[in-house]
Amino acid sequence: MTPIQTIWLDPQDPTTVWIIDQRALPHELVHEPLKTTAQAAVAIKEMHVRGAPLIGATAAWGLYLAMLEYQGAVDFDNYLAQVIDQLQNTRPTAVDLFNALEASQLSIRAAAPHDRVAVARQAAEDFATASAAQCRAIGVHGLEVLRDIAATKPGETINILTHCNAGKLACIDYGTATAPIYLAHEKGLPIHVWVDETRPRNQGARLTAYELAAAGIPHTVIVDNLGGHLMQHGMVDVVFVGTDRTTRQGDVANKIGTYLKALAAHDNGVPFYVGLPTSTIDWTIRDGLREIPIEERGGDEVTHIQGRLDNKNQWVQLTPDASPGLNYGFDVTPARLVTGLITERGICAASEEGLLGLFPEGEG
Ligand code: MRU
Repeated sequence: MTPIQTIWLDPQDPTTVWIIDQRALPHELVHEPLKTTAQAAVAIKEMHVRGAPLIGATAAWGLYLAMLEYQGAVDFDNYLAQVIDQLQNTRPTAVDLFNALEASQLSIRAAAPHDRVAVARQAAEDFATASAAQCRAIGVHGLEVLRDIAATKPGETINILTHCNAGKLACIDYGTATAPIYLAHEKGLPIHVWVDETRPRNQGARLTAYELAAAGIPHTVIVDNLGGHLMQHGMVDVVFVGTDRTTRQGDVANKIGTYLKALAAHDNGVPFYVGLPTSTIDWTIRDGLREIPIEERGGDEVTHIQGRLDNKNQWVQLTPDASPGLNYGFDVTPARLVTGLITERGICAASEEGLLGLFPEGEG
């Protein structure tokens, strides 16, 4: 596997957190230093980093930077509440952001004042380490799904469709939807991935394709509208996607367009799996359609498209000046359309019983 570090503390300068500015990919690999909480918040909001687990990790590191920045001139509790608010007011859908901040702030509040920096650093490192391990375990369990499909068509290629980027770049390592794909490739299973381009931000075309190409995994980028046709013609064996928030009854919010893939998969008898680490479960809500906050971004991401021109990343206008764009970032796929949830503890039904069977702590 090609190692891609998505976020890390500078080993020589512990006042600097490094990220990959994903807006420049796939054409350029740009590393960006974060030195303040404000910079971390901008990196999340403006999608220098994106993907649920990486958003969570960046927020945790943002809180670490806030501990470094604290000078003692203002009341600490007010300061902490204000920086958490700043980090939370970036992207509303991925629950990892809120879960990571909650875990960090609990540790920070329990710490003595002179330990706060070290405790915040440990919390950020713990989130990242746990997330990478969880993604690796998702890969191990998801591999069994691919092995089962392989057994039904010996020697033939397994065609996997994925939407958005639920890969290493969305996480700390391995990815969620891509973890089984990486493992299958390592084990020599013949696989091919249909990569939805994922308008408007094209995370599939830019990021998933970049990752799969780097790993030497056969793949083809397709327009978002092609998936249904491929499924009708037996050209998709399984769909693997990630999620930004999973409710206790197993509804999943993921990148806009995921729901349409789930509908097409359901209509064509194609299994539809969702990979998720614990950090994307929201035990506080049940009905995803009504309760998951859906991010709305600027219409300019729809009316314009980003690409490489004259050796520079540029946005090009697609639409007439007078035509506005509407840009909801996520949709909710109801549990009934999900074949299974692939978690670090195994695969379960997309239901409250299924999730509680693997995560009994969700009862509390
Ligand atoms: O808007 P993005 O790029 O942050 O959306 C990312 C996704 O929708 C991913 O599929 C999701 O975060 C799961 S990633 C492991």
